[in-house]
Amino acid sequence: MIVTSVVGARPQFVKLAPVAQAFAAAGVDHRIVHTGQHYDERMSDAFFDELEIPTPDHNLAVGSGGHGAQTGEMMIRLEPVLAEQRPDWVLVYGDTNSTLAAAVVAAKLHLPLAHLEAGLRSFNRRMPEEVNRVLTDHASDLLLAPTRLARENLEREGLADRTLVVGDVMTDVCLRVARGVGPAALPDDVDPDDGYIVATIHRAENTDDRSRLETIVTGLRSQPIPVVLTAHPRLVARCEAAGIALTGGSLRTVAPYGYPDMVAAVRGAAAVVTDSGGLQKEAYLLGTPCTTLRTETEWPETVAEGWNRLDPDVSSPERWAHPGTPESGIPRGAYGDGDAARRVADALTD
Ligand code: UD1
Repeated sequence: MIVTSVVGARPQFVKLAPVAQAFAAAGVDHRIVHTGQHYDERMSDAFFDELEIPTPDHNLAVGSGGHGAQTGEMMIRLEPVLAEQRPDWVLVYGDTNSTLAAAVVAAKLHLPLAHLEAGLRSFNRRMPEEVNRVLTDHASDLLLAPTRLARENLEREGLADRTLVVGDVMTDVCLRVARGVGPAALPDDVDPDDGYIVATIHRAENTDDRSRLETIVTGLRSQPIPVVLTAHPRLVARCEAAGIALTGGSLRTVAPYGYPDMVAAVRGAAAVVTDSGGLQKEAYLLGTPCTTLRTETEWPETVAEGWNRLDPDVSSPERWAHPGTPESGIPRGAYGDGDAARRVADALTD
């Protein structure tokens, strides 16, 4: 049986890692296509090396671009690859432009399509990711949902009969990596015993509005403890264009971390400030309180349990260093037991 995984952006490489292992264990002929959406060493190759993901069979080298150009170019380059491979399943991950491009190509070629991380909703159609995930869910034959809430979202859209709750593969990889990492590799002037914040900002809604971006950076500078900001290329580019320095006050800007370094840094942090979907959940899994600089989250379980606080207007930076933790102090395991990838392999080979 041939399964072709199509990936392209950083969070998809993380999800691919446990899935590739589970496919290998199940004897699946697993092909990997990398669209090339992310191409910097630290955004792509580092993840394949550190997480021991097999080298992609194809790299479409699409690179950056506007949504139409990027997604369209992916479709043009992917179609002949999938037409030639004719896999038993095309597996797509999450909500990026790579996800949507592969979903459309597979559906048009009448290839069975499975969507991993199906059913997440922010209910904000202005986000490109929301458009990508809704369209991909509706084009898919099998919806692999991470949580019960995701299943309920799909049910409301009439997709229940194609849905299977498998748990979250990010739990698999996060807990596995956390067991193997040592202390965090922090900048020299940050003493982990004195407390620090890990921050990431990359969403268009935060980076592309100059005054909001400035408010966020000012808020990070003003923290009472050091802020280790791992800077996505989009953030660096937007700050440069807007004349906003990623230095000053408590800010310590570093290049994007690889996955093990990120897990170690988050585990040892006093708090996380982010607009990343994945990092909110990693913070939860590692028991670190988080502030999310967005109006909504696709992971409402983190908020309901008290581990994650939304700060939609970026109006309370004085709470970022101490967002508070729930009384129990232990996350309740909303994202599965770390065995989701095996269930994905079972579902596709069944
Ligand atoms: C994409 C996903 C987002 C995901 C994120 C993870 C979409 C619509 N968005 O956003 O859901 O959370 O990946 O990081 O697919 N760039 C580089 N080097 C790279 C990659 C990007 O310099 O290796 C720069 C380019 O200037 C590019 C910009 O970052 O224009 C944005 O990259 P893009 O892939 O369009 O979207 P992300 O913001 O990374």
